[in-house]
Amino acid sequence: MENNLTKRELFVNKLNEIFGDKAEYVLNAISGPRYETFRINSKKSGVDKVLEKLRETEFEITEGPLAGSFVNLSSLHGLKISQTNLFKNGVVYVQGLSSMLGVNVLDPKPGEKILDLCASPGSKTSYIASLTDEPENIYAVENNSTRFYSMKKNLLSQGYSHVITIKSNAVGLSTRYPQICGTFDKVLVDVPCSNEGNVRFSDEGSFKFWNPKLPKKISMLQKKILASGYNMLKPGGLMVYSTCTYSFEENEAVVNWALKKFSDLDMVEIKTGIKKFTLVQGLTLHKGDKLDERISRASRILPDKYFDGFFIALLRKQLSPAYPARK
Ligand SMILES: C[S@@+](CC[C@H](N)C(=O)[O-])C[C@H]1O[C@@H](n2cnc3c(N)ncnc32)[C@H](O)[C@@H]1O
Repeated sequence: MENNLTKRELFVNKLNEIFGDKAEYVLNAISGPRYETFRINSKKSGVDKVLEKLRETEFEITEGPLAGSFVNLSSLHGLKISQTNLFKNGVVYVQGLSSMLGVNVLDPKPGEKILDLCASPGSKTSYIASLTDEPENIYAVENNSTRFYSMKKNLLSQGYSHVITIKSNAVGLSTRYPQICGTFDKVLVDVPCSNEGNVRFSDEGSFKFWNPKLPKKISMLQKKILASGYNMLKPGGLMVYSTCTYSFEENEAVVNWALKKFSDLDMVEIKTGIKKFTLVQGLTLHKGDKLDERISRASRILPDKYFDGFFIALLRKQLSPAYPARK
């Protein structure tokens, strides 16, 4: 009797269906909080100096599990890093580790031309810019006006005013900007999603807007944005498709659709170097739906005290298509 279940019961059932014997682990994790995590903007200050300042203000800080990441373990009166002047002045940047991991998988390198298709608030864009140190090769697209300008402000405060920002719908970008279509070495497709990976039962606000009907609806937009990312990518280029959600419809099903549609698209194995038990392979079978086996190369990041729930697929547009893409 689905209709008599509370929203929370529906959510728990969904996690059981997706994660099977790992569901209890996930449920335990989201019943507790997650640490605040951050990275230091080396354009503005040296790491040791920043850590010294934070420790002087009685933050207990430790290195995080990803290179360049730090964890706020505790602080005086529960003060957050995001409330400090160091954050306000762009010296430190508060960012979830799963979000950082999405960029690590893309592995941006100096000299590469990189497109971030759904970019606001610019957390991943600025991280990409910090890793390549060539912001003039980084393009950030965002369609929502308010979010577009807050992203610009955010990039500016971190010292990345040279990132090329485009206020546009990601869908149909290749028609609007033919001059840059098919020219990117790497594309990040961090789509709008149902945000289930950020749910913590200890924080009511994080669950308030959960709607079991959203995943199916939003997956249509996600497919269009992924197709746009494919068009912008040059042959041989790499693309990360990521969400901060658990829904099969928004994750594996979208990637499966893209693999069917674009014959020259392939999945690349993800190597993260982080402790194994936070990762599981992408699903290739869900409620009787059998998908392309290559989707097992995608990763689901399980939530814990450090990470939020996340999905990452790494795709490569091959140098020459095996046969023309299906219409
Ligand atoms: C998951 S958030 C991106 C977070 C961002 N990548 C970061 O790490 O800071 C998705 C973003 O996509 C934007 N968006 C939604 N639909 C879009 C579209 N059709 N074209 C471009 N951006 C879109 C949303 O406004 C939102 O800012």
